[in-house]
Order: sequence, then structure tokens, then C-alpha cells
Amino acid sequence: MVTLDGKTLAKKIRLSIKEEVKELKEKGIIPGLAFILVGDNPASQVYVNMKTKACEEVGIYSINHRMPKEINEKELVDVIKMLNDNPMVHGILVQLPLPEHIEEEKIIEAIDYRKDIDGFHPYNMGRLARGNPLFSSCTPLGIMKLLEEYSIETKGKDVVMVGAGNITGKPMALMLTNAGATVQICHIYTQHLKEKTKTADILITAVGKPDLIKEDMVKEGAVVIDVGISRVEGKVVGDVDFEKVSHKASYITPVPGGVGPMTIAMLLYNTLQSVKLKEQ
Ligand code: GUN
Repeated sequence: MVTLDGKTLAKKIRLSIKEEVKELKEKGIIPGLAFILVGDNPASQVYVNMKTKACEEVGIYSINHRMPKEINEKELVDVIKMLNDNPMVHGILVQLPLPEHIEEEKIIEAIDYRKDIDGFHPYNMGRLARGNPLFSSCTPLGIMKLLEEYSIETKGKDVVMVGAGNITGKPMALMLTNAGATVQICHIYTQHLKEKTKTADILITAVGKPDLIKEDMVKEGAVVIDVGISRVEGKVVGDVDFEKVSHKASYITPVPGGVGPMTIAMLLYNTLQSVKLKEQ
């Protein structure tokens, strides 16, 4: 069994981004990323702080808009419009989830698709679905890079994606379909999950339920990718029973240190893509 070391690959990518940022700055171009955080969700605060720190480390200029949870949709859209028009800003990230009274779709659609470094805008999701992506969601993009780094073939492989969310499950299924895999998406209404996961050459899970994927649900020699993040007795764990499943898998991602660091590296990567798009 080989551990897919996202931490090390992410570091390598961040170093190469740092070099590129330096070269851009020498030409007078400063990449800029704006974060919007609404409310005081502790997990969201941690994520935005980590992303801000990652920007700092590679020399990307970042702006942080922290807004109280009581703000209305229009106030939030107005901030987004201002950032859409700001030439210093190449990427806009609205941290999700948003408070319930704010319609997520409306907010995502307010972002200029050319600054949508999350790849959540319907234009970018549509381009991905057509096999001609502009910006792709960072977590599945990071997984594709991880598979590539370890020369794991996807063409012709049977993939089972557990989780059908807009951030990971759906774009992941599209990326792997584009890469020639046969993809099955499972979700909360899926029946006989085990029968399906056992057929997977590549099994990906993004649910957030500890020990959801047990040893008897995994085919011998499968590649297992764990996107889940939960806290159990103060420890961060994924969806996979790592201890037991790792004996069966050919490759497996740890939690933490697998997919997580790749997500942040891809956010920086997409920001540079946005700069290049603007400058070309
Ligand atoms: N919430 C959880 N993951 C993400 C992400 O990748 N981007 C944004 N904007 N919000 C999130």
C-alpha cells in the first residue's frame, strides 16, 4: 500500500507558484485574491485563515471581507460587485456555507465567472461538463493532480464517487468522466452502497461521516481517496476506516495530509490561472 502524500505534493506546487508570483511581480503584476466570510462559523474561520496564510506564503495579495451573519443578500452582492470591478482582484472566494437566509445560488452567480477561482459558477460548472474547463473546483482538481503525480491511470477505470455535492462529488465525477473513467455517483438515497463501492477501482468519498467506508466495502487493490473531514475526540478523521482499509488498498490518502493541502494549493493555482487569463 502506498500513501498518497498530498502534503508533500502541495508544498512542491506552492513552491512553484511562489516562483511564478515572483516573476509576475517583476513585470509589475500582483496577483490578488479576495475572501468573503459571512458570520462566525468556526470551521469556516479556520479555512479562511489557512487560505489567507497560504496566499501570504506565496506572495499573493489578499483582501479579507468579514461580514456579520445578519447582512442581507443585497449587501453581500454589492460587495461582490465592487470586487468584480476591482482590477487588483483576480479571484473572489465566498466561503460556504452561507447563513440560511442568503440564497447561495444567487451569490455564486453574482461573482464574475472570470474571477470564480472556486469554479462554482454555473458558467464554470457548465464548461467542465462540456469537457472544456476554465476554472474547476479546487478539491477535485487537487485529487486529479494527486492521481497524476502517482501515475494512477483513470482511463477505462470504474470509479465510485460517494457524495454528490457541488463542491466535490459532482465536479469530481465530471473530471473523471472527461478523463475516460466510468463513474457512478452515490448519495444519501443510494441503496446497497457496499455492492457498488466494492466494484470500484478508484473509490472516492466526500461525506463527512467517520468510518462510513469499512474494509468489506473496498475491492482488493483499489485506490481510496478520502475527502471527509470530521472531528472525533479532538482528532481529525476522514470517512474511511484507514487502519483496516489501508491493508486492502493499493493507494490511499491519509486524513489529515491527503486531499486537504491539495485543495489550498489548487486555490493558489486557480488564482494564477485567472491572472494569466486576464493578461493574455
Ligand atoms: N466550503 C467548503 N469548501 C469550500 C471551498 O472549497 N470553497 C468555498 N468557497 N467554500 C467552501
